Amino acid sequence: MKKILVTGGCGYIGSHTIVDLIENGFEIISVDNNSRSSEHLLEGIEKITGKKVKNYKVDLCDFNDTNAIFEENNDIGGIIHFAAYKAVGESVEKPLLYFENNLVALINLLKCVDFFKIPYFVFSSSCTVYGNPDQIPVTENTPIKPAESPYGMTKQMGEQIITEFSRVSDSACALLRYFNPAGAHPSALIGELPIDKPQNLVPVITQSAIGKLPGITVFGDQYPTRDGSCIRDFIHVSDLAHAHTLALKYLMEKKPATNPEVFNLGTGSGITVLETLQTFEKVTGVPLNYTIGANRPGDVIAIYANNDKAKNELGWDPKYSLDDILSTAWKWEQKLKEDEKLFTGKNIQLN
Ligand code: WQD
Repeated sequence: MKKILVTGGCGYIGSHTIVDLIENGFEIISVDNNSRSSEHLLEGIEKITGKKVKNYKVDLCDFNDTNAIFEENNDIGGIIHFAAYKAVGESVEKPLLYFENNLVALINLLKCVDFFKIPYFVFSSSCTVYGNPDQIPVTENTPIKPAESPYGMTKQMGEQIITEFSRVSDSACALLRYFNPAGAHPSALIGELPIDKPQNLVPVITQSAIGKLPGITVFGDQYPTRDGSCIRDFIHVSDLAHAHTLALKYLMEKKPATNPEVFNLGTGSGITVLETLQTFEKVTGVPLNYTIGANRPGDVIAIYANNDKAKNELGWDPKYSLDDILSTAWKWEQKLKEDEKLFTGKNIQLN
């Protein structure tokens, strides 16, 4: 059974992963209530792959609606679960929204995994589970510290829920800890599509550069780092997408040593926020207007990956550089401007 259910399939990482899965021979169905996404990205997927992907516009927090998808599709061979809210800053302001949305959806999905005996489950986790690590780069065995934000807590709790579930289930599970996803598909037919004002650094940079935002606030330059700004490990979304295909194949083809199996998905190189701005200006020739502001509550000071395990066990080899990440993100932003009538938030029918 090669039909894979992708939750959050209309989202940023979900849409890029669907492209990679289709290119690797899988059949896909998506479930996405479009609360933070738009079905427009399905058009981009079809242009890239030639395949029309069906999306079930369902809120995974509604068990009956979620269960109905599995009743209708008795050939689902695996699940990749992306659907969740993911803005660190917002989660600090609205913790209950994050706990309810991210955890109820996961639990409903796992109930269906259990009842319908879905053999493979890949979970979209995050490097935020490490909290503020004492040592970097982090490996999968780096001790988990208290998360710095409710968003990070939902990923820590999600991993614990899956770990306990896998003790009583025959389903093979993988937890993929993303570092900072950024960039866009080289075709510029899909990319990051913030429905409201973006909260992540790279879309803030590109929207500022194209004039959608007045400028950039760098949230703090007095951290104990080489230039005072936070350090992150930016990973190209297409490299990240391919890691999901490899993780699914890994679960299907090997008996993982442990269940769930955990993988860090980062490039292994850390870059500061200010260096990221400078790199964008170098790569695109577009000057950026930024000011230094206060630290953002919930921010981790510095984190980047040791990705040896994903390289050695999944055969994963990220190929895009930071220059590629920023140039593809910029190309996508320019494409959005050209298609303004299609993609601006005010034109997207939100439920
Ligand atoms: C990065 C840095 C900000 C905006 C993200 C995702 C999360 C998870 C981990 C996958 C921080 C600074 C940002 C701005 C700034 N990914 N910044 N001005 O918080 O590391 O988390 O990666 O699961 O889902 O959100 O990413 O891009 O928000 O912030 O100075 O306008 O950029 O303070 O240091 P973050 P981010």
